[in-house]
Amino acid sequence: MLYRNILFLAIAIILLFFGYQFLHGSSPVVEKEELKSDEEIGPPLGLPPIPWPEDNPYSKEKAELGRLLYFDKRLSSDQTISCATCHSIQCTYSDCRAIAVGISNYQGTRNSPTVVNTAYAKYLFWDGRASSLEEQSKGPIANPKEMSAAKDMDEAHRQCVERIQKSKGYRELFKKVFGTEVITIDEIAKAIATFERTILSGNSPYDRYRAGDQSAMTAKQVRGLEVFKKVKCSNCHTNFNFGDDRFLNIGVGMDKPNPDLGRFEITHEEKDWGSFKVPTLREVEHTAPYMHDGSLLTLEDVIDYYDRGGIKNKNLHPLIKPLNLSQEDKQALVSFLKALSGEGWQHVKEPTAFPD
Ligand code: HEC
Ligand code: HEC
Repeated sequence: MLYRNILFLAIAIILLFFGYQFLHGSSPVVEKEELKSDEEIGPPLGLPPIPWPEDNPYSKEKAELGRLLYFDKRLSSDQTISCATCHSIQCTYSDCRAIAVGISNYQGTRNSPTVVNTAYAKYLFWDGRASSLEEQSKGPIANPKEMSAAKDMDEAHRQCVERIQKSKGYRELFKKVFGTEVITIDEIAKAIATFERTILSGNSPYDRYRAGDQSAMTAKQVRGLEVFKKVKCSNCHTNFNFGDDRFLNIGVGMDKPNPDLGRFEITHEEKDWGSFKVPTLREVEHTAPYMHDGSLLTLEDVIDYYDRGGIKNKNLHPLIKPLNLSQEDKQALVSFLKALSGEGWQHVKEPTAFPD
């Protein structure tokens, strides 16, 4: 009887073991690999693992090359503008301006969003016209209002590669990272994107509060979080990033004679008329002015805007309506938004020298 029981138990254990292997896939090697890169550049508390693309995995050397390129003004036609001109460390990877200013003092039309946590974004730009950081970074290099004086995109990219290729130091670095003699625009984009994916913000008072540290947020911030949910800010600023991959119309700029129609200009679908990407609210305390047109100067202005019910237009989202917030609620909301300032981007330093 005893032997029989032991036999049963042994069979059960063996079945369980193989069942587990079957369900979870027996690929411990892959799991270990993934762990390694996350360990190296582990995301701070509150953020999921960084989604490294299969065709552009993380390496330290690539991220470092990306950092050099990101801050290097040689990426622009007249060598006066780098990515960091409009997404600087001092301005938490935004530019502290309402509207971006590029080469020859060209005014753009939109506000520079922060690069922080764009590792997680499915769509880039206010209208979502790029769907990877690799694709995105090739945009400004060829944009005549940002970094390029060339006649078209191919020409702009060719000239940019030529400027970088001239540098012996860069040629050596690209060879080390990509194993090629001839630098390409795609390699430049891959390196910059790898660097960008390391610019994170988590471990904020909110994240620590959520993880169980009751004292991480002040009473006012806790109240702000309640208001944030009560008036349904959280229906749009939904995920861990307090952003969303949707495009919604909250009315900003809709009272102008020729308003920016945002996502509509890309899809030409009525539902997207006047819609913009729901931006992350992480580090929002540090990225004023706000909205795609930089029209709101402070967080107080933003809360007042929502409280008034936005700007009426034919596609205004139904949640945008007068909120009748008390003065206390407004202050609590602002205070809560400041609990979304965290860490994971401050470790990056501007290079002191660039490859010759
Ligand atoms: C002249 C200022 C300027 C320069 C230079 C510039 N950007 Fe931007 N960046 C902007 C503006 C403005 C937007 C938003 C444009 C839009 O939505 O149409 C933007 C958008 C982005 C976004 C999307 C963020 C999001 O949340 O959707 C990323 C990422 C980014 N830039 C990275 C870069 C990189 C990398 C470079 C260098 C290759 C660069 N930028 C150069 C102004 C600039
Ligand atoms: C209907 C969806 C929706 C709701 C509800 C909503 N937001 Fe937004 N939020 C957006 C969109 C979309 C934008 C960008 C709009 C633009 O630039 O034109 C935005 C922008 C912002 C910004 C500016 C961020 C930046 O970097 O420029 C802040 C701050 C903000 N929202 C906070 C809040 C708060 C607080 C509430 C609740 C009172 C709230 N939102 C409710 C969709 C929403």
